[in-house]
Amino acid sequence: MQTCRLGTQQRHNGGMTDGPLILGIETSCDETGVGVVRGNTLLADAIASSVEEHARFGGVVPEVASRAHLEAMVPTIERACEIADVKLYDVDAIAVTSGPGLAGALLVGVAAAKALAVGLAKPLYGVNHLAAHVAVDQLEHGPLPEPCIALLVSGGHSSLLRVGDVTCDVVPLGATIDDAAGEAFDKVARLLGLPFPGGPHIDSEARSGSSVAIDFPRGLTSQRDLQRHRFDFSFSGLKTAVARWVEAREEAGEPIPLADVAASFQEAVCDVLTRKAVAAAVDQGIDTMLIGGGVAANSRLRVLAQERAAAKGIRVRIPRPGLCTDNGAMVAALGSELVSRGRQPSPLDLPADSSLPVTQVLATAR
Ligand code: KG4
Ligand code: ZN
Repeated sequence: MQTCRLGTQQRHNGGMTDGPLILGIETSCDETGVGVVRGNTLLADAIASSVEEHARFGGVVPEVASRAHLEAMVPTIERACEIADVKLYDVDAIAVTSGPGLAGALLVGVAAAKALAVGLAKPLYGVNHLAAHVAVDQLEHGPLPEPCIALLVSGGHSSLLRVGDVTCDVVPLGATIDDAAGEAFDKVARLLGLPFPGGPHIDSEARSGSSVAIDFPRGLTSQRDLQRHRFDFSFSGLKTAVARWVEAREEAGEPIPLADVAASFQEAVCDVLTRKAVAAAVDQGIDTMLIGGGVAANSRLRVLAQERAAAKGIRVRIPRPGLCTDNGAMVAALGSELVSRGRQPSPLDLPADSSLPVTQVLATAR
């Protein structure tokens, strides 16, 4: 377990009975998210997405995302305050994703958060995007048991974490050694001619397909691989296997059974993710497993995780799909936890750090 050095370990709520009022800003990829929470209560979750501007490129174009964040920032902040029915000067602190993510995109959120913090004379918390994906579950299911296992699966990351105190004790157990799970969904969707982002489209195609129609490979699950990569993932071999399978059918002039390919591919991803996450929980003697990140919205992953975890007496917590994909509420949720636990705010010169390590929950000085 890590030692939490900043601030006190005692919970406090800044003198308020129902927790601090936090505005959270998320701009690490293509969603401009602004959330408002009080304690663990979600008051507003305003999102402006530039996903349609990236669709024709088949992936997020960083410069396009940065410009879209710039345009969306002020209106999204205004919308969040309106929905939450709060005034900006009422908030107790500003939280912002300071990494990891796209450098230019992060910069827009961090600059906006600094401006608000200075203008309103409020403390600023630069937070880790991955820890925020964990903390958001508190808005739905209450305080996180400590420790818990977190499986974070998004377009940019696939990690297995042991989380004690989410504000300072996040230990990586494993991660992808190549593509992220969401990236694999997006790439396979592309080769199947489905729109970007591909995850939701594969998910819906798979509903009418057979998950056992094609036996796609399960990366890093052989006895030999498990010795070195017990809790790591690899999805690039799976993506290549799908591509080869589709090519072979095309060359033979045969139709591609889209739903079966989608269902069999999805099963291969969900099988490995759930198998390793449950194994990590058993190995660590931890009875709660949380799943977060965009891929946690996947319907098959949600069902399979529940089934396999239940068989081992492990409880699964997964936020509703809208809180799994990137949003501002998750940043506000982590900010709220940091304030409640008395952590020191970040300095006003906090950097946007595109490769912020998962172990660093709170951004400190340069
Ligand atoms: O967490 P997120 O919104 O952004 C990142 O931090 O990357 O995750 C986006 C990823 C995309 O790759 C998208 O295809 C995937 O999450 N995704 C899904 C589903 N919904 C979103 N993947 C599988 N099934 C879904 N239902
Ligand atoms: Zn994310």
